[in-house]
Amino acid sequence: MSYSLPDLPYDYGALEPVYSGRVLELHHGKHHAGYVAGLNRTQERLAEARERGDFEAIVGLEKALAFNLSGHILHSLFWKNLSPDGGGKPDGELASAVERSFGSFERFREQLTQATVTVQGSGWGALAWEPVGQQLVVEQIYDHHGNVGSGSVPLLAIDAWEHAYYLQHENRRADYVAALWDLVDWNDVEARFTRARTFSLL
Ligand SMILES: [Fe+2]
Repeated sequence: MSYSLPDLPYDYGALEPVYSGRVLELHHGKHHAGYVAGLNRTQERLAEARERGDFEAIVGLEKALAFNLSGHILHSLFWKNLSPDGGGKPDGELASAVERSFGSFERFREQLTQATVTVQGSGWGALAWEPVGQQLVVEQIYDHHGNVGSGSVPLLAIDAWEHAYYLQHENRRADYVAALWDLVDWNDVEARFTRARTFSLL
């Protein structure tokens, strides 16, 4: 199966002024597209290795698979987590779960903000559902795939790679993250939360 770049659910300029249309165009059309191409190329090379029975390059290929697959998944999630009509707070079951897991929405927002702003190098901050303890956790993701609890399901991902903000905010990652909260589509996050909770890992 080959992967394809998903269309955005809105126009490139739809998130302005919070998120620059030009940055979004490059981010989706070049960076995300690059992960999709890398993922398909890696799948082809793995198929060739199986065909030849030659797994000399398997370590590098598995690393490329994890990197590009996770990059594709997190970006696909990120676009849907944002909306021109976003912002505010979650309500209903998600709001209750946030309070149970973090004490309050404000404390959760501070933890996710700090996790995102302080990623060393490239990475993400994410709200995830942890299916064993049945609770929400904040994760600080390295690149696209490191430092993640196995089995956790990302619900809200915030891209902290420089390509996500540098043309708009230069080195001020904290300004970018602070502004992005105004675009978070809590209806989307809550729908993911509802689906994730039906999954039993152990
Ligand atoms: Fe990105």
